[in-house]
Formats: sequence, C-alpha cells, structure tokens
Amino acid sequence: MSEASKKLLEESKARRTYRKFLPDPVDMEVIKDCILTAGTAPNGADKQPWHFSVVIDPEMKKKIREASEAVERDLYENKISDEWRADLKKLSTNAEKPFLTEAPCLIVIFKEYYKTLEDGKIDKNYYVNESIGISIGFLINAIRNAGYASLTYTPAPPMFLRELLGRPEGETPVMVLVVGKPDPSYELPILKKKTFEEIADII
Ligand SMILES: Cc1cc2nc3c(=O)[nH]c(=O)nc-3n(C[C@H](O)[C@H](O)[C@H](O)COP(=O)(O)O)c2cc1C
Repeated sequence: MSEASKKLLEESKARRTYRKFLPDPVDMEVIKDCILTAGTAPNGADKQPWHFSVVIDPEMKKKIREASEAVERDLYENKISDEWRADLKKLSTNAEKPFLTEAPCLIVIFKEYYKTLEDGKIDKNYYVNESIGISIGFLINAIRNAGYASLTYTPAPPMFLRELLGRPEGETPVMVLVVGKPDPSYELPILKKKTFEEIADII
C-alpha cells in the first residue's frame, strides 16, 4: 500500500508545467486513452458535464494563438492588478503564447452547464465546476503518466474558443491543455511546494 502511494507521490512531484514543447506529433491512441481516463472522474449525478476538443490542425492552432494573444494583450495591458502581475513574475509569462502553435496538440476543455435536447427541452447538469476540475486533474495525471508534458493555459476571457470550435451555447470553455513532449531547453521556474503541515491537519 505505502509503496504505491510513495511511488505516485514521487511521480507526481516530477510533473511540472512546461511552456515550451518539441514539435513531435502525439500518439492519438494515447491521447484518446487519457481523455477516456478523464471521463471516468466522479461528477454530479453522473451527467459527465464535459467536452474535450482535440486540436492538431496547424490552421486551427494558429487561430487559437491569434485570438489568445489578443485577449492576453488586453489582460496584461489593462486588466491585471499589480498584485497579480507580481505573482506571475516568477513564471516569466507574458502576452506571447508561442506554445499554442509549437506544441503538437491542444485539448480545449469545455464544461457543460446544459444540453439542448432535440425537442428543445433543456437538460441541466449539476456541480459542473467541481466535476470539470476533478476531470481535468485526472486528464493531467494521465498525460503525465503517458510521458507527455502539459500546460494548463487559461486565456481570460476564454469565450472565443466556443465560437472557434463550434461548441453549443450550454458549454463554456475552461482551459486549453497544451500537450506534447517537453522541450528540455525550457528553464523550469523554481517553485517550492507546501509541506503536509502547511496544507493539511489530522483531527
Ligand atoms: C487553473 C489554472 C490556470 C493556469 N493558467 C495558466 C496560464 O494561463 N498560463 C500559464 O503559463 N500557466 C498557467 N497555469 C499553470 C500554473 O502556473 C502552474 O501550475 C503553477 O505555477 C505550478 O507549477 P507546476 O505546475 O510546474 O507545479 C495554470 C494552472 C491552473 C491550475
């Protein structure tokens, strides 16, 4: 038991967010398995309120990059607080998002608030935010386990993704999970994870 938990802890510690990827294509069979793993996540009333759009087409990646950089320029120039800017400094992020065209695969993740049925009735989902967060966690861990790196990229606001990818009104984009082989030239920011005592207590 404890061997299994220690092994997962060590593997999880080795997962890091990459912001530079090699252009090598991903194995689509592996990506499908990872998405099906995400689909096993616990979720409100088993409505499975998620959709994953896998983008490998260079033209669509280009469109996503252009639209993302437009919202990012506005965010960095006009919207983020000084506090937020200071917190981002250690990650060296800016409005340029080259990984969106350089990485071989983007998984655009949508949370589904409702589905419009053929008869026009609305089929509502529950605990959508909690469910999508758990599912994305499963997905990130599956991708790590498959030997790929990922980046949880959240353009703000993200609504352009729904239009670009032709998703229905009941779905809201949550993030773009950028997936590929990590570029070893990327300098990982030095981060310190909190200790057990800092994040938990036993009562
Ligand atoms: C909800 C969420 C949104 C994030 N958005 C971005 C983002 O827009 N751009 C980015 O470069 N990293 C983003 N990240 C990645 C975090 O910066 C990263 O996970 C954090 O710094 C910890 O680093 P690590 O993943 O290497 O442990 C996001 C992470 C989460 C969970």
